[in-house]
Amino acid sequence: MNTPLDESLKIVSRDYFNALEHAQTAEQLEEIRLKYLSRNGTIAHLMGQLKDLPPQEKSTFGPLLNNFKNKAVEAFEAKRFHIINQEILKKQQAHSSFDVTAYKAQPYGTLHPYTQTIEEIENIFISMGFEIADGPEIETDVINFEALNIPADHPARDMHDTFWLDVPGMLLRTHTSTVQVHSMMQKRPPLAVIATGRCYRHEATDASHDIMFMQCEGLFIDKNVSISQLLGTTTTFLQAIFKKNDIKTRFRPGFFPFVEPGIEIDMSCPFCTSGCSTCKKTRWIEICGSGLIHPHVLRSCGIDPDHYSGFAFGFGLTRLVMLKYGIYDIRLLHSAHLDFLRQF
Ligand code: DAH
Repeated sequence: MNTPLDESLKIVSRDYFNALEHAQTAEQLEEIRLKYLSRNGTIAHLMGQLKDLPPQEKSTFGPLLNNFKNKAVEAFEAKRFHIINQEILKKQQAHSSFDVTAYKAQPYGTLHPYTQTIEEIENIFISMGFEIADGPEIETDVINFEALNIPADHPARDMHDTFWLDVPGMLLRTHTSTVQVHSMMQKRPPLAVIATGRCYRHEATDASHDIMFMQCEGLFIDKNVSISQLLGTTTTFLQAIFKKNDIKTRFRPGFFPFVEPGIEIDMSCPFCTSGCSTCKKTRWIEICGSGLIHPHVLRSCGIDPDHYSGFAFGFGLTRLVMLKYGIYDIRLLHSAHLDFLRQF
C-alpha cells in the first residue's frame, strides 16, 4: 500500500534527480544542495517525519528514505565532480585560445618626465644618506609662513601669491619648505631629508609660469653644520642629475626669511661653454635658493639653535625638468598632450 509519504518520496526523488540532471553550474548545484540535502532541506524534513509514523510504516518507509538519501548524496557528488571538471576544462580552453600576439601592437606607457626626474633625485639623495619626506598640499598659515620666519606683515609674503582656502588660516602651500617644518617637528637631529611635491601660487600663466608647479626641498641639521657642506651637497647633486662631472656652482648672497645667511646658487650651463639661449648667454643658470637655517626657525620647530645648526635648499623641480629635457613651455608638461608625452 502506498502511504502519502511514499507518494511524497516519489515526487521528491523525481524532482531531485531531474534537477540534478539539468544542473550545469556550481551555483545551480549549490541551490539543489540547499533545497534537498542541507539540514533544513527536503530530505531532512522527510527524515523528521519518520519518528511520528506507526512502527510498520516506519519499517518500510525508513529504509526507502535511507536508500534515497544515499543515492541522492552519491549522485550529487558525482555531478559535483563532473561540473568542477567541466569548469576547469572551460578555463583551460579559454587560456589556450588566448592569443598573446593579438596584443603586439598595443601602445605601452612610460613614466612622466616628472616621475622619472623625482626617482633620479631621490636616488641621488638617498645615496648621500638623505631620507625621503613628504607633507600635505593643504597647509596652515603657521607652517607655510609663521614657522618659517615669515610673520603676517612680512613683505616676503607678497612673493607668495597665495591661494587662501575658505577655512580661515588654511592655504595651498606656496613652497615645499613646509616639509622642513614638519620634519623638524617630527624628528630630532641629526636630520637629512629631501622632499618633492606640488606647490601653488596665484600667478598669471605663461610659458614659464603655472598656478601649480613642483619644488624640491632639502634639509640637513646636525652639530656644526657649515656652508661648505651645503656647497658640496648641492654641487654633487647637480653634477649627478645632469650627468656631468664638470658642472660648477657659484654662491651669491640672497634673501629668504628662513635662512641666515641666505644664498642663491647658480650652476654653470650644462648645455654650452660659450653662452646659449638656455643660459641667456651668461653661461650661468640660477638654480637654487639656500642658506643656513635661521635660529628662529630652528627654535619655532623645537630645536635648540645653540646646539644645532643646519642648511636648507629649495629648487624648482618643474624648472629642473624643463632644463633637463629642453621643454620650453610649462603648459606642455602639465597637459595630457600625448604627442608630447610619448617622447619620454
Ligand atoms: N622656498 C623658497 C621658494 O619657494 C626656496 C628656498 C629658498 C628654499 C631658500 C630653501 C631655502 O630651503 O633655504 O622660493
